[in-house]
Amino acid sequence: QGDVFTYDPGFTSTAACSSTITYIDGDKGELLYRGYPIEQLAAQSHHLEVCYLLLYGELPSAQQMIDFETRVTRHTMVHEQMHNFFRGFRRDAHPMATMVGVVGAMSAFYHDSTDIEDPWQREVAAIRLIAKIPTIAAMAYKYSIGQPFVYPKNSLDYAGNFLHMCFAVPAEDYVVDPILAKAMDRIMMLHADHEQNASTSTVRLAGSSGANPFACIAAGIACLWGPAHGGANQACLEMLREIGTVDRIPEYIAKAKDKNDPFRLMGFGHRVYKNFDPRAKVMKESADEVLDLLGIHDNETLKVAKELERIALEDEYFVSKKLYPNVDFYSGIILEAMGFPTAMFTPIFALSRTVGWVAQWKEMVGDSDQKIGRPRQLYTGAPRRDYSDVENR
Ligand code: SDX
Repeated sequence: QGDVFTYDPGFTSTAACSSTITYIDGDKGELLYRGYPIEQLAAQSHHLEVCYLLLYGELPSAQQMIDFETRVTRHTMVHEQMHNFFRGFRRDAHPMATMVGVVGAMSAFYHDSTDIEDPWQREVAAIRLIAKIPTIAAMAYKYSIGQPFVYPKNSLDYAGNFLHMCFAVPAEDYVVDPILAKAMDRIMMLHADHEQNASTSTVRLAGSSGANPFACIAAGIACLWGPAHGGANQACLEMLREIGTVDRIPEYIAKAKDKNDPFRLMGFGHRVYKNFDPRAKVMKESADEVLDLLGIHDNETLKVAKELERIALEDEYFVSKKLYPNVDFYSGIILEAMGFPTAMFTPIFALSRTVGWVAQWKEMVGDSDQKIGRPRQLYTGAPRRDYSDVENR
């Protein structure tokens, strides 16, 4: 396995769990999936190959990739009866609410892949989730805009199929733009896994009780939705739009530094990275590339984002706090250029992260020594005291 990474004792004593899947060095700004640098994977691999790597620990041979893609492709449709779940939601429900509900409902459908003691059922649950999550995300989008669901087209690749299910309509032919498909595939890869972030920890904690795998992933989706986590990509683009022009940036920088103001720069800062988030670098290059290829040259939002980044990286406050752009800072600009509404930004993060949640869940439940998670607390409440009758209070 090459060099074994060793943590300093301090880190080990606070580590919530051990895992072989993803490694982050927050000070160096390094992210490895099963030892491979994210920069190399983003440049040379594709999302479904990264799914194989995260699930099984090694890059697939050509035949292994064909077999894996065939297995995933066979599961891209959802049970027809699941369409009814969408109709229980108001049309203006946030697609993340719909995804939490529908993925949770999968726990009542796919009974032949919920016995976590059976390695084969764990494997099928993993494949089903990776295969169906783009379909469910696209259905949530279509439902929110009042358009009919579009079935998966298995002649398309993973990212292209998702775009087709989102943007095709029965009334017209739709051809997937290879530029958009490549950009979408790269966004999926960059979000695939990220060690023990809040939503992955949620999935692991839920899974540690032996809960239904689909219910565990629904819990992860719910946690990711928060603006401090995956919801930041939507909040970041809304912030950039609110700033509007570069001359208004200083006003927002001041707000972000004001301790009395709850405002934070969305897409900035990270619990672990105290250097550049390597994904943000790739995303920034991708934003330039996609907008240029789409012929969008004077994108005001991108101008504001780049100027905001430049100013913040020179500002003593942000430098002292080691605040850098994170994965959510540029992703929304690409997704907006691709035609997605901001409400679809976090669902796309969720569909991309599903493989990471599933790989981490599978690693944990497959470990026979695994015990139920039981975080402790620092108790700061009242000391022991005796009950008093109401007339004595
Ligand atoms: C993701 O964990 C993961 O791996 C998550 C993720 C993944 O792939 O799963 O990487 C995805 O969630 C990325 C983060 C997306 N969230 C945002 O962009 C929201 C904006 N950022 C923050 O709210 C914040 O940076 C957090 C929540 C991400 C981290 O907050 P912390 O834990 O408070 O960060 P910190 O301890 O490093 O903060 C140091 C200081 C604090 O000030 P002091 O208490 O020391 O005075 O910097 C301040 C913070 O208040 N600060 C910010 C800031 N982020 C931190 N000030 C202004 N703007 C910000 N964005």
